[in-house]
Amino acid sequence: MQLPNLKEARVRTKKEVVTKTNDYIISHDLVEIGKGKTYFVKTYGCQMNEHDSENIKAILEDMSFTEAPSMEEADLILLNTCAIRENAHNKVFGMIGRIKHMKETKPDLIVGICGCMAQEEVVVDEILEKYKWIDIVFGTHNIHKLPSILKTSMETKKLNVDVLSIEGDVIENIPVKRDSKYKAWVNIMYGCDKFCTYCIVPYTRGKQRSRKPHFIIEEVKDLMKQGYQEVTLLGQNVNAYGKDLDMDYGMENLLEDVAKTGIPRLRFVTSHPWDFTDKMIEVIGKYDNIMPYIHLPLQSGSDRILKLMGRRYTKESYLALFRKLKEVLPYSSITTDIIVGFPGETEEDFEETLDVVNTCKYDSAFTFIFSPRVGTPAAKMKDDVPLEVKNERLHRLNELVNQYSKEANDTYLGKVVPVLIEGYSENDPSKLMGYTDTMKLVNVEGNPAMIGKIVDVEITDVKTWSMNGKMK
Ligand code: SAH
Ligand code: SF4
Ligand code: F3S
Repeated sequence: MQLPNLKEARVRTKKEVVTKTNDYIISHDLVEIGKGKTYFVKTYGCQMNEHDSENIKAILEDMSFTEAPSMEEADLILLNTCAIRENAHNKVFGMIGRIKHMKETKPDLIVGICGCMAQEEVVVDEILEKYKWIDIVFGTHNIHKLPSILKTSMETKKLNVDVLSIEGDVIENIPVKRDSKYKAWVNIMYGCDKFCTYCIVPYTRGKQRSRKPHFIIEEVKDLMKQGYQEVTLLGQNVNAYGKDLDMDYGMENLLEDVAKTGIPRLRFVTSHPWDFTDKMIEVIGKYDNIMPYIHLPLQSGSDRILKLMGRRYTKESYLALFRKLKEVLPYSSITTDIIVGFPGETEEDFEETLDVVNTCKYDSAFTFIFSPRVGTPAAKMKDDVPLEVKNERLHRLNELVNQYSKEANDTYLGKVVPVLIEGYSENDPSKLMGYTDTMKLVNVEGNPAMIGKIVDVEITDVKTWSMNGKMK
């Protein structure tokens, strides 16, 4: 048993990050442990978690497990969880309840919890108290140790909790089973040191650790060899890439070097406005294969709230950055994240947020009601905004955001845009689907032989969240 510890999760030292190139090992006694058994991984949360699940799947397959078509059919279920807001928690505990029933009729079912919730002391305490029938709990720092964690639980038939509350290392040799053959996630950094006062991520993911550039570039080159059309560089705060490395090499250098590999489409998320440099903007403008799409979280338009959030930019400096981006990339789409109902947010504060939305006219926005997370400073701030006021603000904000999404999409009508065709449309299997360079979802009429290719599509109809088109 190795339990998470909130105090330790908070620690940041000057200790150098260690890159480990052979820490994932799978010993002989483990390669057949899953023979004849199937697994199902259910993922909650952000792209980081989706990519972790791709690693977890590959590790399970190294142990001879095969993927089950559904959770009901699996012999091993892993929930890769997210801790960002209360409703993410509730969803997971709801699912745990469902799985308990499955385990009652299927006693050999192995159940595991991993991801960001597993890193939380309060969650693991609850599991130890009320859900002892769960088999394994492991965190974000020791995914590569899954084989031995699983073995211990299978042998002892007891709950095995193995969560490390450490700053973290960079593990370079974890295998990956990618969900797509055409677009790939590539981690460029782990963790976060920004400690925005509302956010749990710095506690669940450890300190900011950048991968060394050559590992990233090699991974992208390898993906190109396999025929991948698109890579997304991943990090909680990619603009700060390299700041923790002992070399004079930042995000602008990495973007340029990855663009030079010639990968057809290059994206990156998420960009914290604070670290966005002019050099980065210059590089984004210079390379045609860096996609004209930027996710630039605002969180709030009020300087007072931004300060309380610890975001370290102001409304004005955010708007100045926004304008600069639009100057260099007039055709780009810019999206954002906004939190309403932060402790003490007044109507005036909220109107400042609406004002930024009215100025930036985002292509789309993810909007959330503030959710207090145990251990974060904002959870202790006096929160006197009634829930109905928060709901009402969210509603007003969403109306405005949707109006601008539709307006932005309207400008595409009749235009011909490049779309990477990913497969068949979920809603209408007679159509194909894909994303434009600017990250707009398009349902496309055309030849299925073009799946996996970037094609010209004429936009024939636009809605708020998607568009229709046909191949030229
Ligand atoms: N690293 C990214 C954010 C990752 S979390 C960044 O800094 O931009 C994704 C989004 O979840 C955040 O942008 C924020 O809008 C929202 N979020 C994070 N913590 C939250 C909380 N406690 N309550 C409500 N929303 C939250
Ligand atoms: Fe959370 Fe802020 Fe880090 Fe984003 S930058 S992950 S919001 S602490
Ligand atoms: Fe959620 Fe963890 Fe991502 S808290 S948003 S899965 S980093």
